Amino acid sequence: MTLRYIALLVAGLSVLTSKTWAVVDVSMEDRVEVSLKGQAMIPCMYKLKESAKMIVWFTRLPGRDQGRRRIYYYDDQNAIIEEGSDYAGRINVTHSYEPQSERGSAILIIDNVQMSDQREFICIVHDILSDSGEGHTRLQLFNSPSLPVIERTHTGVSVNEEEPSKVADCEVNDGYPRPNITWYKDRFPLQPSDGDIKIMESVTIKPSGLFTVKSELFIKVERTDEDAHFYCEVKYFVPGGVKMTESKKINITVHYPTTNVTLYVNPPDRLIKEGDTVDIQCEGNGNPQPVFTFTHKEEELETKENGMLLLEDVKRSNSGTYECQAYDFETGTGAEGSINITVHYLDHIVVTPEDTVLDQGQDLILTCNALSSLPTYTAWYKDDMQLVERHVLELHNASYDTAGMYMCEVIVPSLPDLQERKSLQISVRGKPMISEITVSQVNKADRFVNLTCYAQGYPFPTITWTLVDEQSGKPVPVAEAENQKIDTGVFSMISVRATSQLTASCSAANELGTVNVSHKIEASVRVTTTTTQATSTKGTGLTVPPKQPPKGGGSGVIIAVIIICLLLIAILGSVLYFLYKKGKLPCGRSGKQDFTKEKASKDDIVMEMKSGKSEEAVLLQGINGDKKSPTE
Ligand SMILES: *[C@@H]1O[C@H](CO)[C@@H](O)[C@H](O)[C@H]1NC(C)=O
Ligand SMILES: *[C@@H]1O[C@H](CO)[C@@H](O)[C@H](O)[C@H]1NC(C)=O
Ligand SMILES: *[C@@H]1O[C@H](CO)[C@@H](O)[C@H](O)[C@H]1NC(C)=O
Ligand SMILES: *[C@@H]1O[C@H](CO)[C@@H](O)[C@H](O)[C@H]1NC(C)=O
Ligand SMILES: *[C@@H]1O[C@H](CO)[C@@H](O)[C@H](O)[C@H]1NC(C)=O
Ligand SMILES: *[C@@H]1O[C@H](CO)[C@@H](O)[C@H](O)[C@H]1NC(C)=O
Ligand SMILES: *[C@@H]1O[C@H](CO)[C@@H](O)[C@H](O)[C@H]1NC(C)=O
Ligand SMILES: *[C@@H]1O[C@H](CO)[C@@H](O)[C@H](O)[C@H]1NC(C)=O
Repeated sequence: MTLRYIALLVAGLSVLTSKTWAVVDVSMEDRVEVSLKGQAMIPCMYKLKESAKMIVWFTRLPGRDQGRRRIYYYDDQNAIIEEGSDYAGRINVTHSYEPQSERGSAILIIDNVQMSDQREFICIVHDILSDSGEGHTRLQLFNSPSLPVIERTHTGVSVNEEEPSKVADCEVNDGYPRPNITWYKDRFPLQPSDGDIKIMESVTIKPSGLFTVKSELFIKVERTDEDAHFYCEVKYFVPGGVKMTESKKINITVHYPTTNVTLYVNPPDRLIKEGDTVDIQCEGNGNPQPVFTFTHKEEELETKENGMLLLEDVKRSNSGTYECQAYDFETGTGAEGSINITVHYLDHIVVTPEDTVLDQGQDLILTCNALSSLPTYTAWYKDDMQLVERHVLELHNASYDTAGMYMCEVIVPSLPDLQERKSLQISVRGKPMISEITVSQVNKADRFVNLTCYAQGYPFPTITWTLVDEQSGKPVPVAEAENQKIDTGVFSMISVRATSQLTASCSAANELGTVNVSHKIEASVRVTTTTTQATSTKGTGLTVPPKQPPKGGGSGVIIAVIIICLLLIAILGSVLYFLYKKGKLPCGRSGKQDFTKEKASKDDIVMEMKSGKSEEAVLLQGINGDKKSPTE
C-alpha cells in the first residue's frame, strides 16, 4: 500500500518538476515531432505579470557530456542568434505577450531540420527580478523509408528440405526511426514459428543516421505454396502516427516430386489409323518434370524430347500399351503411367473369284472381303450403279448384260479415310452379237461418214468390214478400222466417203460363231458448192476414189421426169400470167417476198439425191436462177 503511494507521489513530482522548482512558471511540450528537412516549431510558454525580461534558448549537446550550448539570447535590447552554432541561419524565435492573461510565449522555429537536431531544446525565461524558470522539449525526427524492395529466391525451393528454405528478401532504406518489416502470405501475416517459418532481420544505420532494414524469409514450403503470393509490409512512424507500405507480390518456384504420371495422345479423341503420326505425351504431377522413359512391349523407346514420344507412320504393330516411367533423382522416387493405343486398319480387298469368264445362263457368287479392326460397310457396283449393300454378290443366268466391270467398295464408317476398292471383270462367253451399225452425220466438207459397229461376245470377236458399191456390185477397198476393246465387247469404226450408194457389212467372229450386219449408205451431195468447188473436191486425194457411175436407165428416167416437171411449171406459169393480165390474181409485194424467202432458205440445204451427181446440182441451181431473176 505505502509503496504504491510513494510511487504515485514520485510520479506526480517528476511531472511537475519544471514548474514547481522555478520561480517563473515555464511550460513546454515534452516532445515535438518533425520530419527530416521540415520545419520544427518549439513553443516555450510562461506566465508572468509582465513580459519576460530575458529569454535564452539552449540545446543539450549529444554525446556523453550532455553540456548545454546557448543558441539564442533575447532581452529588451537584443535578440541574438549565436554565431558559429549549428543553428545560425536556421532558427528564428517569435515572441508574444498578452497582458490580460499574463501569458507570454517564445516560439523557436528551426528550418531544414537535420538528423543532428534530434536533441533537447531548453528555454529559460527570466523576469525583472532575475528570477527564472526553464522548460525543455525533445525534438523527435522522422523519415519515411523508401518503398520496400522484394526479391524472390530464383532457384526452386524443394518441399523435401528438412529446414526452412529462404524464399525471399525484403529491404527498406532510409527510415527513421527504425521501420518494421512484416511478411505476408496471401494476406496472412507470417510469424516466426518453430521449424516452419524463420525470419532473419538485419538492421544497419547509415552514416546519415537513417536505418536500412533487411528481412529474409525462410519457410518449409509445401506444394500449395506454388500458388501463394508473398509480400512484405513496412510499418514506420510519421509525425503523429504510423504508416505502412507494401511491396509488390511475388510467387515462388516450388519443387516437388512426381507421384503420378499421366499420358496424353495427340491428336486427342480421334481414332488412329495406319499411316498416321501420333505423339504421346507424358506428364508428371511434380515440378520440375522428371526424366521419363517410354516402353512399349517391354522395349525401351528413344525420344527426342523428354516426355514426348513421336510415332510416325504408325502400323497396327504400334498398337498396345505404352508405359511411361518417371524417376526423380532428388528424392529417388519413381512413378509410372500407361496408355493404350489402337492403330486401326483396313486391309486390301480380296474378291473371290477374281476376273471370271461365264457361260451364258451360268450362276456365280462373288464375295468381297477386307480385314479391318473396325466394323466395315461393303457394297458392289457396276457402271457406277450400286447393286447390293453387302459383301456377297450373286449373279444368276449370265447373259451379255451380266458382262462388265464390277467394283466392290469397303469403307469404315467410323474412320472414313479407311476405304478400299477393287474391280473385277466378268466376261460372258458366247458367239458375237451386233445390234446394228451406227452411222454418223455426213461431214459436209468432204462427204466422209463414220460407221461404227459394236460387237458383244467373249472371247472378244475380231471384226471385218466389207464395202460394196451398189451400182457396180464391186467391192470397194476399206480403210483401216479403228478398234477399241471395252469390257463387254469390241467397237470398230471406219470412215467411208459417201460418194455413191454403198452397202457396208460388219462381221464379228470368235471361236463360237460369226455374225454379219449390213447397212446401206446413201450417196451424199453438197448442194451449195459451186461447180468449181465440186471439181476441186473431186481433185483431192481420197482413200475411196470417187467413181463416175455410168449413165444407166435410172438417170434417163430422172431427166425425163425433170423435163416433164419443167413443162408443167411453164404451163402453170403461163396460166398464172393469163390470170394476172385479166386482173383476177392480186400480185402484192408480200407474195413475191415469201417466194424469195423460201428459195433463200433452200440455198442452204444440203440435198441428198438417189444418185450423187453434179449434173443434178447444176440443174437445181438453174431452177433457182430462173426464180431469182424476177426478184432482181
Ligand atoms: C527569420 O526571420 C528573418 C527575418 O524576418 C528571415 O529573413 C528568415 O528567413 C527567418 N528564418 C527562419 C528560419 O524562419
Ligand atoms: C516495430 O517493432 C517494435 C518491436 O516490436 C515496436 O516496438 C515498434 O513500435 C514497431 N514499430 C512500428 C512502426 O510499428
Ligand atoms: C509467378 O510469377 C511470374 C513472374 O513473376 C509469372 O510469370 C508467373 O506467371 C507467376 N506464376 C503464378 C502461378 O502466378
Ligand atoms: C494419381 O493417379 C491416380 C489414378 O490415375 C488417381 O486416382 C490419383 O488421384 C492421382 N493422384 C494425384 C495426386 O493426381
Ligand atoms: C490397356 O490394355 C490392357 C490389356 O489390354 C488392360 O489390362 C489395361 O487396363 C489397359 N489400360 C488402360 C489404361 O486402358
Ligand atoms: C435365262 O435367260 C434366258 C434369256 O435371257 C431366258 O430365256 C431363261 O428363261 C432364263 N432362265 C432362267 C432360269 O431364268
Ligand atoms: C469420224 O471419226 C473421226 C475420228 O474419231 C473424227 O475425227 C471425225 O470427225 C468423224 N467424222 C464424222 C463425220 O463424224
Ligand atoms: C457379210 O454379208 C455380206 C453381204 O451380205 C457379204 O458380202 C460378206 O461377205 C459377208 N461377210 C461375212 C464374213 O460373212
